[in-house]
Amino acid sequence: MRDVLTIAMPKGRIFDDAVDLLRQAGFRLPPEFDDSRKLIIDVPEESFRFILAKPMDVPTYVEHGVADLGIAGKDVLLEEERDVYELLDLKISACYLAVAGLPDAKINELAPKVATKYPHVAAAYFREQGEQVEIIKLNGSIELAPLIGLADRIVDIVSTGRTLKENGLIEYERMVEITSRLIVNPVSFRLKDTRINELVERLSEIKSYALQE
Ligand code: PRP
Repeated sequence: MRDVLTIAMPKGRIFDDAVDLLRQAGFRLPPEFDDSRKLIIDVPEESFRFILAKPMDVPTYVEHGVADLGIAGKDVLLEEERDVYELLDLKISACYLAVAGLPDAKINELAPKVATKYPHVAAAYFREQGEQVEIIKLNGSIELAPLIGLADRIVDIVSTGRTLKENGLIEYERMVEITSRLIVNPVSFRLKDTRINELVERLSEIKSYALQE
């Protein structure tokens, strides 16, 4: 009998790209993937169990081994720094992290405030720049912060750039390019290597992925 692989999938913007990718690789995923509120979807024909998680939580499930594999944005991996291996850059859901704010903002020079969903990434970035800032952690709608005077700047994901534009914000600095990655629990990788390598090969056949170091 084949090992069942448990895969943590990020709900939200990456989800459809990830499902498309698995289908392109020839895995038959049922229609439940297109419209369902289920949080666990078993696909016995493919010996897969999918966990539908909040994107920021995917590395946590994988680190704890309740999921063998996961699909997570590089932004989340940089922020969470979990004990997981990156197997593949899936090259889906491309976007980037940027520092942004109001075009004519007078930055508070003593202690500029930076609002973000990525407090660790933002703190490390400004530390490297030799700039002292106060980080304000928010959970979403980050672009609100400079508009209502909560922060001088934001650190956030830019994809199409629409959210910045429609809220009258501009990008100050482009920080890091982001794509989604296939991650694995180190123990699962040892115990279920045959199946995991088969999945990696199937995915590699549809795009030319470079294996991660
Ligand atoms: C993300 C991000 C930006 C927006 C960028 O938010 O935080 O707000 O998308 O995309 P765009 O450049 O295509 O406009 P998301 O929609 O994930 O929701 P959130 O505000 O809850 O984080």
